Amino acid sequence: MARKNDTAVNYTVPGLKPDAAAEVVSTLQDRLNALNDLALTLKHVHWNVVGPTFIAVHTMLDPQVDGVRQMVDATAERIATLGGSPIGTPGALVAQRTWDDYSIGRAGAEAHLAALDLVYTGVIQDHRTAIEKTEELDPVTEDLLVAQAGVLEQYHWFIRAHLETPEGTLKTAGAPTEKAAARKTKR
Ligand SMILES: [Fe+2]
Repeated sequence: MARKNDTAVNYTVPGLKPDAAAEVVSTLQDRLNALNDLALTLKHVHWNVVGPTFIAVHTMLDPQVDGVRQMVDATAERIATLGGSPIGTPGALVAQRTWDDYSIGRAGAEAHLAALDLVYTGVIQDHRTAIEKTEELDPVTEDLLVAQAGVLEQYHWFIRAHLETPEGTLKTAGAPTEKAAARKTKR
């Protein structure tokens, strides 16, 4: 059986206490799960988007997948550097995550973009919480997360630019779920 959230740390980087490192590792494991989930979800959309603007969205997403996969690797290796054990198996990801699977299959570009707006909102909000948590504990980890958040926010803008009106509002504003966000683009 996959370990649920084993963040025990026996030794860590110089200047950090093992119990502080264990806290940072626990925070990073959650971000590792979120980034692995995001990379898979972006590929799922890359494969399932249909309609006249297929190629624009299909092509836009692969560089985002590549960028997020680099973040996955850096996050896992930071866990190992801190003396922890990064858990990268799909079963552990599903057991540990606090969010639901992406909810849309084959659909038009606007529906997927609206749903991805909510996906990115969740990942980025949680990244900012992780930044706050690591600020005092380990500024080196904080720095890694800050750099990742900047890139994630840029990818989020690429998605949102498709959903923005000429007045500067978002078609998805206030949508509570991915499916509700997708429906709002039909108006
Ligand atoms: Fe492809």
